[in-house]
Amino acid sequence: METKFEKKLLCIGAGYVGGPTMAMIAYKCPQYKITIVDINHNRIAEWNSDNLPIYEPGLDEIVKTARGRNLFFSTDIDKGIKEADIIFVSVNTPTKTFGVGAGMAADLQYWEKTARHILQCAESPKIIVEKSTLPVKTALAMERILTSDNNKIHFEVLSNPEFLAEGTAINDLENPDRVLIGSRQTESGIKAGNELVEIYANWINKERIITSDIWSSELSKIVSNAFLAQRISSINSISALCEKTDADINDVARAVGFDSRIGKKFLNASIGFGGSCFKKDILNLVYICRHYGLNEVADYWDSVVKINDFQKGRFIIKMLTAMFNTLVNKKICLLGFAFKANTGDTRESPAIYIAKRLIEEKAELVITDPKALKNAKMDLKDIDGNVKYIEDPYEAAAGSYAIAIMTEWDLYKNLDYEKIYKSMIKPAFFFDGRNIVDHQKLFEIGFNVFPTGKPALTHF
Ligand code: NAD
Ligand code: UGA
Repeated sequence: METKFEKKLLCIGAGYVGGPTMAMIAYKCPQYKITIVDINHNRIAEWNSDNLPIYEPGLDEIVKTARGRNLFFSTDIDKGIKEADIIFVSVNTPTKTFGVGAGMAADLQYWEKTARHILQCAESPKIIVEKSTLPVKTALAMERILTSDNNKIHFEVLSNPEFLAEGTAINDLENPDRVLIGSRQTESGIKAGNELVEIYANWINKERIITSDIWSSELSKIVSNAFLAQRISSINSISALCEKTDADINDVARAVGFDSRIGKKFLNASIGFGGSCFKKDILNLVYICRHYGLNEVADYWDSVVKINDFQKGRFIIKMLTAMFNTLVNKKICLLGFAFKANTGDTRESPAIYIAKRLIEEKAELVITDPKALKNAKMDLKDIDGNVKYIEDPYEAAAGSYAIAIMTEWDLYKNLDYEKIYKSMIKPAFFFDGRNIVDHQKLFEIGFNVFPTGKPALTHF
């Protein structure tokens, strides 16, 4: 006999957001039945196996506890829709690559297919939750599709954007800064919003569950990402100035961040931000602003992406200039390929850009990363150049002219750099795109060291 569950929740889209988010709800709320569906059969098979499709610290334990109890992964989307009281839509919303708005606007094809699928299969009233990041006013389009069948079934659309960051997703889901729920300010909208509040209140303090109108909720998600990315571009822009003036970006960030109005977080100068969302969400914001004729606002946010591109380009110029203006046939070891530490995700990783530019310079690449080599191979599969993928960092670095840190994995902070130095071609170069190693120590070992936003330490 099937266990009686208080509610049946469905999530459409078993990706980086849908998987961990719904696994956390299932883990915290055994009284609900949670089903996650996807059109990608391989992905669902992996979610049902011992090798989950994404690497996220702490995720395996949560999935193992809830899977088969009240958490189910399936490809039967029709059945899932029919059964569910509440449907979370967590499909991908990448940047459009074709037609009007190409390279800027959000590609809403997956999202719209989902809305139509729900309409086609639903037999009872449902709450539909936008979990994907969507342009402001998308809920209106969702409502229009869902009511196109003459309102036979009542659907209430909510916006509940996800703020988790990869690599810390489990902690972010367990102890979020806030959960945001946007609803229509009608009686039924507010009632549906409250139903979602009660789900999160199973483990999150109600003070952290904030509600708003639906448009503010949709917009807040994109603005949050834009503000976070803006901080990185701000500090990265200053890192360029530091390199010209012998100032140290870490000291500047520390002094600035001590001001409680500014805060210390998200001021790490880097090779540039990556990840599947910052760039796409800002471009989306820029596109919407232009659509409404707000060109000055659009230009302002566009500059955040431009500085990020500048920062990545600067890194290549730095390498080239330091290494006597030629990289031809020089073996270069990239330490890390993921867009940040503690994830295997490489979407929009700055390392992809750096690798491609180095290959254009006819360098030979050796890429190492503890979790991202599979994705790195896919990212660079069409590249015409000499690229090797080696898991062991010592083996990867041996015989190279230069090392460049792409990802701030803890592992790279404490490698035996003396041993690595000995195995390299001299003069040996070290480019730290994340400022994670002891630059003075490396210099003393013999490396010519090029940190980010700090004076270079060279032997000539
Ligand atoms: P993802 O590509 O990892 O997952 C999306 C999944 O949706 C894929 O597995 C895909 O096969 C599936 N899908 C697409 N169309 C479908 C359909 N019609 N029916 C069933 N399944 C379908 O994407 P993601 O990283 O999980 O991001 C999802 C959304 O969440 C995006 O809007 C993103 O902006 C947002 N978001 C992502 C993160 C993050 O850290 N990755 C954080 C917050 C918000
Ligand atoms: C980001 C946001 O932090 C999440 O709140 C949001 O939910 C998510 O985007 C999303 O919408 O997808 P994520 O991209 O997973 O999360 O990771 P972040 O920690 O934000 O890092 C993004 C990029 O910025 C990484 O490449 C990281 O290395 C870089 N970064 C971050 C810096 O260069 N400097 C910093 O100080 C912080």
